[in-house]
Amino acid sequence: MTAPIRKAVFPIAGLGTRFLPATKASAKEMLPVVDKPLIQYAVEEAYAAGIRQMIFVTGRTKRSVEDHFDTAYELESELEAAGKKELLAVARSIAPADMSCVFVRQPRALGLGHAVLCAKDLVGNEAFAVLLADDLMVGEPPVMAQMVQQYAEWRTSLLAVQDVPREHTKRYGIVSGTVVHDGLLDVTGIIEKPAPEVAPTTLAVAGRYILTPGIFKELENLPRGVGGEIQLTDGIAQLLRREKVFAYRYAGTRYDCGSKLGFLQATVDLGRRHAEVGADFSDWLDQRAS
Ligand code: G1P
Repeated sequence: MTAPIRKAVFPIAGLGTRFLPATKASAKEMLPVVDKPLIQYAVEEAYAAGIRQMIFVTGRTKRSVEDHFDTAYELESELEAAGKKELLAVARSIAPADMSCVFVRQPRALGLGHAVLCAKDLVGNEAFAVLLADDLMVGEPPVMAQMVQQYAEWRTSLLAVQDVPREHTKRYGIVSGTVVHDGLLDVTGIIEKPAPEVAPTTLAVAGRYILTPGIFKELENLPRGVGGEIQLTDGIAQLLRREKVFAYRYAGTRYDCGSKLGFLQATVDLGRRHAEVGADFSDWLDQRAS
């Protein structure tokens, strides 16, 4: 059986200003949590959901992402010659043979909705996933696999959601809806980054979406929204008028690696669980805390 979702879009053209100076000349998506860049976590999550075509919407200074998913001949032949088989396997596993990567430029920083629109021709007329690499998701099964499973059942657009403290609503797309099933809401409204006083709920969109191709028509006709940008959230608000959109309370943990605090939390949690250094790192942390 072919997977119901075959393609994933990774909008990675953002400047990453929240992480300056680290991101002045480097892609924020290449910041490593322990030993793996953020973008690789997101790609692995999509792959684990059965998705094989990865579409990166890139910008200037993002060449390292292209190189990361390309074959590194020099590195591989050095490792091979040195008999470093495990490292060679690590280098090769980044881009498995059955995975394809396509890169398209977002020529101007016009927002997340515009970035998704840049992938329109590559996606074509089928439902697709969107993963924001800033949000590092840890779940079992992985969060996108949970969503693909939901999509297979309901065949509607799906937004991953979680509850957030009311004072944080202005960081997120916020949804309202009616419960249709355990953990699933029929979305009746969505608004980008409302102030806490006016937020209709505290149910926030995390950076994982499955969208029907109907979203492209909405995005094409959108005026600029919050921050002068073409907002994906506004496109979804329009899509709602024509199609059902469900919000799915995913099982797992989200680390906001676009913020320093979230990035540090991810580093500590994933460091503790790391196969090679996890035990020593945990001992070290526990000793310092006692
Ligand atoms: C984007 C979306 C927002 C969503 C968030 C999740 O915002 O516009 O709706 O809740 O990702 O991380 P950004 O974090 O890019 O400002």
